[in-house]
Amino acid sequence: MARFSIVDSWRTQSTGTRVLRLMLGATWLYGGLQKASDPKFFDKASTGYIGAQITGYAKNSPLSFILKHMVEHATQVGWLILLGELAVGIAVLSGVALQAAIIAGASISTILWLSVTWHVYPYFLGSDTAYLVMWIALFFLVRKEAGARVRKSPIPNLKDRREVVQMLGVGVTAVIAALAAGGLKKSIPAPKAGTKIVDLSALPVGSNMQFTAPDGGPAYLFRTKAGVFAYSATCTHQGCTVGYNPSGNTLDCPCHGGKFDPANGGAVLAGPPPAPLASIKVAIQGNSIVTV
Ligand code: FES
Repeated sequence: MARFSIVDSWRTQSTGTRVLRLMLGATWLYGGLQKASDPKFFDKASTGYIGAQITGYAKNSPLSFILKHMVEHATQVGWLILLGELAVGIAVLSGVALQAAIIAGASISTILWLSVTWHVYPYFLGSDTAYLVMWIALFFLVRKEAGARVRKSPIPNLKDRREVVQMLGVGVTAVIAALAAGGLKKSIPAPKAGTKIVDLSALPVGSNMQFTAPDGGPAYLFRTKAGVFAYSATCTHQGCTVGYNPSGNTLDCPCHGGKFDPANGGAVLAGPPPAPLASIKVAIQGNSIVTV
């Protein structure tokens, strides 16, 4: 068996293959690192908790019967996704067990499409279908360019000690990357009580405004006859920033068509978001509206 070299694995491929490989490998690596460094991902009290996300996706997915069973093992599922994404990213970028990594990446995209973006309309706003097509194209390009060197089966030969060691290397690197990214996790700052947001007179009844939430994220403050209330403007689907839509009095997400109802606890009205917008406690104190 020829000696494996990461540089050769890139040098021998066409520009088109390299572009797809770089994009998919980097995206999967980034996805894993982003989850590992997200303090909400394993926080059961957060709307960003993997269990809350799976519960939301289970409502409308054709895989709902599987997703419902996953909820009780959400933390383990979260680790599996996180390490799977890291391992696929590292394997695709390094070229170790490349064809098997491409199949794993395509499988992850298929699962995400059937669960996370199944109801995104029109379909081209959901990124998972595009990634799935990219994985399929990359698979056929890699098979073709590998030519005579390609084995009939894309699955690595586990009897070959060198391949086993290379795959172990990918697994260990994925775990180290997850732990290193976890070390960068920012703890969620406790909201500062009593911080003034705006003068009461500057926000008449029936109006709203954007402000910065105590955790530093974007947020919306509303004033109605019933009082004042506020929501995080971070979409509970994939974290895009929602904006106020005066025609429907909704908070709309520009990424995949999510819609939230500010008059009803930030409830999801449309699109793939799995949970309502996180509410932020505010109150009228004297002549000001403050966080509480
Ligand atoms: S990020 Fe997907 S709907 Fe908001």
